[in-house]
Amino acid sequence: MAKAAFSRTSRSPADPGLASRRLAAHAVAEVLRRRASLDETFERLARQATLDERDAGLARAIAVTTFRRFGTIRTALTERLAKGPPKDEAFLGLLATGAAQILFLDVPDHAAVDLAVRLARTEGRPGLAGLVNAVLRRIARERDTILAGSDPLRVDTPEWLARRWSRHYGAAAPAIAEAHRAGGSLDLSVRSDPALWAERLGGTVLATGTVRLTQRTPIRELPGYGEGAWWVQDAAAALPARFLAAGPGERVIDLCAAPGGKTAQLASRGAHVVAVDRSEARLKRLRENMERLQLSVETRMTDVLALHEEPFDAVLLDAPCSATGTLRRNPDAAWTKRESDLSQLVELQTRLLDKAAALTRPEGRLVYCTCSLEPEEGERQVAAFLERHPEFVPAPLGPDDVPGLSEAVTPEGWLRTLPHYGGPQFGGTGMDGFFAARFRRRSV
Ligand SMILES: C[S@@+](CC[C@H](N)C(=O)[O-])C[C@H]1O[C@@H](n2cnc3c(N)ncnc32)[C@H](O)[C@@H]1O
Repeated sequence: MAKAAFSRTSRSPADPGLASRRLAAHAVAEVLRRRASLDETFERLARQATLDERDAGLARAIAVTTFRRFGTIRTALTERLAKGPPKDEAFLGLLATGAAQILFLDVPDHAAVDLAVRLARTEGRPGLAGLVNAVLRRIARERDTILAGSDPLRVDTPEWLARRWSRHYGAAAPAIAEAHRAGGSLDLSVRSDPALWAERLGGTVLATGTVRLTQRTPIRELPGYGEGAWWVQDAAAALPARFLAAGPGERVIDLCAAPGGKTAQLASRGAHVVAVDRSEARLKRLRENMERLQLSVETRMTDVLALHEEPFDAVLLDAPCSATGTLRRNPDAAWTKRESDLSQLVELQTRLLDKAAALTRPEGRLVYCTCSLEPEEGERQVAAFLERHPEFVPAPLGPDDVPGLSEAVTPEGWLRTLPHYGGPQFGGTGMDGFFAARFRRRSV
């Protein structure tokens, strides 16, 4: 009876502090349980919660930080719980989000502990309230020791990823892990006049033309949003579509297009773009984005593998992948993906690439890209493609294709960005890890 009464009160705006912790703990638990994306999970749960923008923002910051520092948090809990980390995701979510506030966020320790204890009581776990109190208090007391042992690669990166990156990127692996912990800035692609928009928005223009903002303002409140002057797109994600150099009047197909960052780039160059995605919800977002940007594109809601179209002048395949290049923004993916997921993704990419090849006209261009750091989804995928498809030749990239980022061009002429890349002209806040390769189809 008392629990039900408390629960009703806590869900009302009168107790927004508790409600925001509940949202964060539920989101973390559900992501872990379903191995789902935090962005989508949070959006859905936040719609059900009656929180204002500020409290929802706090809940989101707690959930993102929990995943960004999940290795440190889980180790701290494991070492302070006699039975090891909770197997039950709901309890792990509650403890981990409490620890995230104590260790990494500007929340007074006593408030973080008190709210976690109250959450345990209102979530039907009054018997665990004492344990929550004891463990979180101990974490607060031992904060310095915990943080001293928190190495980005050894602790805050899952073992399988740390092993792979050490093997493939050697001495750069710790810098990659460090960049993931630092998070990302807000990068925008603008329709025209980046210098003007950088000035209006208080940002800087990177050497590749992206406008980078470091201050955090809700996107819809920024100048130019309503009039469709720009769209959100990481500096590295903005590169592959440019490699197609799509021109006015050309027919271009964007395979796996939603939510449409690359579609917008192609359409704003005057190309006639067909955007394909199999997800209805994501394609809806793409259409809304194009409407805001006042860009006209054709859309097809279908599996690329089932597509029937005449060949195109230029084809972009931004293939579904492990997304290990985007952990600065989506740190949850590190803890929900498994090494065993890779082979299925690689197989799908291979089939999608074969389809992309069939959709490219003789003398046409094809760009393949993934936001992955794993060579199977990049360098090895395209090496195998060239063996299967002698009708294609590489169209290597040169330093001029990526101004200020020549270290991202491989000896083969592929693009390989790493999350810590970018000197002073990139504002020092890194970029997504991307792979891209460009090909030309021989004439018949
Ligand atoms: C990496 S995201 C694309 C991002 C997008 N290119 C952009 O720049 O905004 C991959 C997309 O591929 C779509 N997808 C995955 N497999 C697909 C398939 N077999 N056919 C069509 N779309 C697919 C997903 O729905 C998802 O929207």
